[in-house]
Amino acid sequence: MHPPLSIAVIGAGLMGHGIAQVLAHAGHAVVLSDADPAMLGTVRGRIARNLEEMGVPAAPVLERLRTVPTLAAAVSDADMVIESVAEVANVKQGLLAEVASLAPAHAILTSNTSVIPITRLGERLDDDARGRLVGTHWWNPPHLIPLVEVVRTAYTRQDVVDRTVALLRDAGKVPVVVHRDVTGFIGNRLNQAMWREALALIEAGVCDAETIDTVVKSSFGLRLPVLGPMENADLIGLELTRNLHALLLPDLSDAKTASPLLDAAIARGHTGLAAGHGLRSWTPEDAEAVRRRLAAHLIVSIKKEA
Ligand SMILES: NC(=O)c1ccc[n+]([C@@H]2O[C@H](COP(=O)([O-])OP(=O)(O)OC[C@H]3O[C@@H](n4cnc5c(N)ncnc54)[C@H](O)[C@@H]3O)[C@@H](O)[C@H]2O)c1
Repeated sequence: MHPPLSIAVIGAGLMGHGIAQVLAHAGHAVVLSDADPAMLGTVRGRIARNLEEMGVPAAPVLERLRTVPTLAAAVSDADMVIESVAEVANVKQGLLAEVASLAPAHAILTSNTSVIPITRLGERLDDDARGRLVGTHWWNPPHLIPLVEVVRTAYTRQDVVDRTVALLRDAGKVPVVVHRDVTGFIGNRLNQAMWREALALIEAGVCDAETIDTVVKSSFGLRLPVLGPMENADLIGLELTRNLHALLLPDLSDAKTASPLLDAAIARGHTGLAAGHGLRSWTPEDAEAVRRRLAAHLIVSIKKEA
């Protein structure tokens, strides 16, 4: 698939605006739509700010990007539709069914769900549309994190997987194919396994939330960009890995429900950064400072990789 394709992005929030930016930057004609007119109204400004931070001229990218008020206008000419609306299965199912009825019969249909199996999201589609449905799980911020998980279902056509991977690679992303449609795909399963253990350590009084962050950021977090866990296992040797697992795994959390720590914090109104308190405490200035710190770090990292 070579630019320029016509790509519709539905949902102009945190993820949708960055996804639209990447694809317009890659030369595609991108149409953005959102149920909330206020989100659509600010989207060009948000993309311009991202591009400025990256040192990329905004005008040529914004020229390839249109915002439209209705779903029909967004998808009527689309070669690919990317849904990035709220993480509610019922909403996504309804939206994908509507998209399938409005978009051209050849259009690839994708969802940016973080954890919901793609097969479930396609339950209201006919066989033909199911064959064109594939997961594309981007990571936040999508214009700076390279990985996109391309999730195939038992129905997804091979050419749809291949064309999606090619499009993402050509747009500068690092696509990986997820061969079975498991909840949370690959990255979120790995990430959330660590968060479960972190919360279990705090619950057990081993340390506080700040210490968890210090341990990760000052130890294995530093080597992760150059040494994946499977490379690391080989590096230390599989006998040692097996011995560590034999000693440690029986003691790790295998909780099957969300941590009571989360319930208690939420009940106190400590819902996270936007509320000023979550697992840690935050000032109003911190939100912007965290966003900028993360963006600056990622921009340096991806420039080093290039
Ligand atoms: N935030 C993350 O870190 C992250 C990472 C990867 C994937 N995701 C996934 O991406 C998707 C979007 O997440 P987000 O963080 O961008 O959320 P968000 O709340 O920032 O944006 C969602 C947007 O969708 C719009 N919307 C909701 N229902 C709609 C509908 N029926 N039609 C059109 N627009 C509609 C909302 O108005 C909103 O602007 C979710 O599925 C989420 O799980 C999020």
